[in-house]
Amino acid sequence: MIFSTVSLKGGVGKTTVAINTAVYLRHSGYRVLLIDSDANANAVSWFGVRGSEQLNIPTVAIRESKALLKNIRVFQKEYDLIVIDGTPSVDPLTSAILAITDVAIIPIKPSPLDVWATGKFMEAYNVATAVNQNIKTFVLPNEFDFRNVISRETVKVISEMPFTILESKLGNRVAFKECLASGLGVTEYTDPIAANEFANVILEINKSMETK
Ligand SMILES: Nc1ncnc2c1ncn2[C@@H]1O[C@H](COP(=O)(O)OP(=O)(O)OP(=O)(O)O)[C@@H](O)[C@H]1O
Ligand SMILES: [Mg+2]
Repeated sequence: MIFSTVSLKGGVGKTTVAINTAVYLRHSGYRVLLIDSDANANAVSWFGVRGSEQLNIPTVAIRESKALLKNIRVFQKEYDLIVIDGTPSVDPLTSAILAITDVAIIPIKPSPLDVWATGKFMEAYNVATAVNQNIKTFVLPNEFDFRNVISRETVKVISEMPFTILESKLGNRVAFKECLASGLGVTEYTDPIAANEFANVILEINKSMETK
């Protein structure tokens, strides 16, 4: 099964969510490969600082659609689950990612800019997923704060788009930044609230996949 984090917008949490998804699933006992498709190589950098005492999550950089499509079948034989950290662009690589993805997660931060980008992304998404009818896509509100109007408004506007929006949300928590510096996922770190938030995201996706 292939998970990916995608968005037209930079800085929404694709890498954060991809890394934490890989860590969570690895601890669930699966053999997990993390693929970094972004030129900034953030996931590869994270892997570089991950200690050898942690569960191993091999992380490879693939920046080109042909290379992704060529290698993915081999990876699928070696790993139970593959998590692809997407790149913030609509190009052949993003199209290739969407064409092979089973579960796409679109993180979104509370801002009109993110809403507009998600609307724009939908056009490319519809084209790319025409060849992949089985894709399940979930919008994940990130850095969400119930107390502010813009967070609630963002969720309301996205709910009207034809994507499933998750009930589970990630708050703006420093743990999501801190854990990366030591090569950890938030569920391996010291903030139980952040860890619980992230676990709930994966549990909700799992539950939704079972009932769909
Ligand atoms: N829930 C959160 N709480 C606090 N900080 C967060 C959270 N999610 C993401 N961040 C921070 O926001 C910034 C952007 O996140 P991230 O790099 O994961 O986004 P991205 O979509 O992968 O960006 P890019 O498009 O540049 O690759 C990072 O500094 C990250 O640590
Ligand atoms: Mg990134």
